Amino acid sequence: MKNVFKPVPITSSEITSKNVYISRRDFFKAAGVIAGSSALVSCAPNIVTTSDSAPIVSAVTQNLKDELGESVTTVKDITNFNNYYEFTVSKEGVAGLAEKFQTSPWDVEVYGLVNKPRKFSVDDLVKKFQPEERIYRLRCVEGWSMVIPWVGFPLAKLLEEVEPTLDARYVRFETVFRPEEMPGQKQAVYPWPYQEGLRLDEALNDLTILATGLYGGELPAQNGGGIRLVVPWKYGFKSIKAVIKIELTSAQPSTLWNTIAPNEYGFYSNVNPNVDHPRWSQSTERRIGEVSRRDTLLFNGYAEQVAHLYEVMDLKVNY
Ligand code: MTE
Repeated sequence: MKNVFKPVPITSSEITSKNVYISRRDFFKAAGVIAGSSALVSCAPNIVTTSDSAPIVSAVTQNLKDELGESVTTVKDITNFNNYYEFTVSKEGVAGLAEKFQTSPWDVEVYGLVNKPRKFSVDDLVKKFQPEERIYRLRCVEGWSMVIPWVGFPLAKLLEEVEPTLDARYVRFETVFRPEEMPGQKQAVYPWPYQEGLRLDEALNDLTILATGLYGGELPAQNGGGIRLVVPWKYGFKSIKAVIKIELTSAQPSTLWNTIAPNEYGFYSNVNPNVDHPRWSQSTERRIGEVSRRDTLLFNGYAEQVAHLYEVMDLKVNY
């Protein structure tokens, strides 16, 4: 099986040590990506150093590519063009509104059909599972895409810790509910908290990760910090942000978008250029940073790794 990610081990000390990395806010400020500071981008130095001159943002300046040779999207775009309805429906407005959102400390509770239910702190998970860099394409159902250098670890490692029982067939994920910090949650238009779900075999696939960082740094609030699911062969909305609950269930869990518009957003939501959204075509996409559109790939280009999961399914019915 083709190795689709670059397994660069990143130790927790590399991610968190103040000697090596400046704080998250300073990190993104240095890269010119804090909302409202875009003017800084063109002046940002290639190598940013702390006062003791240790190099800190090498990843920002590296020419990182995914396994298809596609360059990563800029850190500015990744952190300033976001979908995060708990804050706002405006993609450009999320970073500013999320600036004060507390992402640390952060706990995740894993429970349900498991032998060893437990609450984990993200700090402990980082120490235990040694996150690595995974460069993945992210294809939004709306027709835009990015290539993102995540830092994360396989969800399977966490699930192994809690020992799912034989009855467990699905995994349900839930986002934090903090309307005081997340203004969008005060609007009753959506059934908060945001929920998502995977079949257990999808959750155990090696491509499925929990991300704790990106671009070699911590995970910005607007991208889903404290911790966020990343399922690269599915439309971006399956990659739920700010996860605080992971529940193993026997029945297929309800998900936010499927609850609101079941005819538009199925439970599976695999990237599929042959199954159009009822209101638009899914055959092409626009990579952020590019002008013209490109063809969308079946399973977002990860067919070799995941097509076997759906062998007996009609993807037009199970969209
Ligand atoms: N998770 C939560 N909790 N709330 C959201 O609104 N938006 C989803 C997904 N996860 C969303 C979410 C959608 S539609 C997309 S395309 C991706 O996050 C976008 O991730 P990004 O902003 O890090 O690029």
